[in-house]
Amino acid sequence: MRSSAAIDAIPNSLEAFWMPMTPNRKFKKDPKFFVAAEGMYYTTSGGERILDAIAGLWCVNAGHCHPRIVEAIRTQAGKLDYSSSFGIGHPAVFNYANRLQQIVPPGFNHVFLAGSGSEAVDTALKLALAYHRARGEGHRQRLIGRIRGYHGVGFGGLSVAGIGWQRQQFGVMLPGVAHLPDTHEIQRNAFSRGQPEHGTDRLRDALDGLLYAHDPSTIAAIIVEPVAGAGGVLPPPRGYLEHLRKVCDEHHILLIFDEVVTGFGRLGAPFAAQALGVTPDLITCAKGMTNGAVPMGGVLVHDKVHSAMMTGSEAAVEFSHGYTYSGHPLACAAAIATLDVYEDEGLFEHAAKLALPWEQALHGLRNAPYVIDIRNLGLLGAVQIESAPGAFGQRARDCAAVCHEDGVFVRALGESLILSPPLIADETQILKIVETIGRAAKSL
Ligand SMILES: Cc1ncc(COP(=O)(O)O)c(C=O)c1O
Repeated sequence: MRSSAAIDAIPNSLEAFWMPMTPNRKFKKDPKFFVAAEGMYYTTSGGERILDAIAGLWCVNAGHCHPRIVEAIRTQAGKLDYSSSFGIGHPAVFNYANRLQQIVPPGFNHVFLAGSGSEAVDTALKLALAYHRARGEGHRQRLIGRIRGYHGVGFGGLSVAGIGWQRQQFGVMLPGVAHLPDTHEIQRNAFSRGQPEHGTDRLRDALDGLLYAHDPSTIAAIIVEPVAGAGGVLPPPRGYLEHLRKVCDEHHILLIFDEVVTGFGRLGAPFAAQALGVTPDLITCAKGMTNGAVPMGGVLVHDKVHSAMMTGSEAAVEFSHGYTYSGHPLACAAAIATLDVYEDEGLFEHAAKLALPWEQALHGLRNAPYVIDIRNLGLLGAVQIESAPGAFGQRARDCAAVCHEDGVFVRALGESLILSPPLIADETQILKIVETIGRAAKSL
């Protein structure tokens, strides 16, 4: 069948599409399809409505198919479908960059655009190297990541990431990378509400050790997610990010916050940098930038980095980097509409208000079977389900599958159910998410 009218038909064969991050053979034996979405809900091919407890994949912050975003994309697609940003301009991209200025932390007066979170991370890592070179410190080449960090799947991001099963197929990756420990301490911090109390002491020592081992003058940047997302939703212990900032300042190391998950309101402020009161030098973002409607990523660049790069001949390319889809007109149209929706509907403020009821509801699962930790910050959450011996993560995956059958879409990563509902959620929907997980845990 050739007709594009058939695009929505459930196909007879699922062979040709190699699904990303998916056990393909297992999925294709028992496939599940979403065919439509609106607001907080997906619709399945069987016509059921499924409550989306993870905002698609941490991205649909304003809810699905928001009419203003849909309209902006439609209009732009009919006017200027594509124009490169290599040596030529189109208004939407400059208008978007200016509009974004209204919500970024002070000093982040420039944005470099990419097509995804992975591209944003690779851009930030390259920018860190280029920045030090521009300052005459090209010997700073080490990049520091963190255990259980997730920074996408490009070679740069994967090199600094710290989830072993996602890295083991790909060899040694970038040289000169080291990892800080992760921030999870279940013994001392289990069931912490918000930022845990313990851990900064241990993490401070580990950072000192790492600086001693490598010599700080060789380090270009430290990259962390302010709240590790795919590693299991791990809020930073109190004082930890502040300490990282201080050490980076002392040693002229750039601090990169990967805010692909936390950006655009997830913690009740535009960025985690504002919500947590710690300002990095570069901020990567994607996902909620366009409400997930068109792929887009970006790096918010602090003046300190930008001004160091704007030197030398004006005829020279200052940063030899960029993508065919950097500043894609459709993405820019979606991104401007998305920012308007966030503002006009007060979604960041709504997320901030909902954070406490969310915390209270989630921690109500404390005594559910197999639940060994619950974590939350802003509208992020995780419920950790103890694995059966020899079957790491299987119980969490089973629990997610039962939730799906029961009408709630959650994602299992490792031992944890990952939760990040659209910021438009109301308290009834939050209770439904939590009650469904509670029932699923009892069925295990
Ligand atoms: C913190 C973080 N960085 C980067 C990425 C990669 O983004 P993308 O999948 O758009 O490449 C993700 C994706 O989940 C992420 O959570």
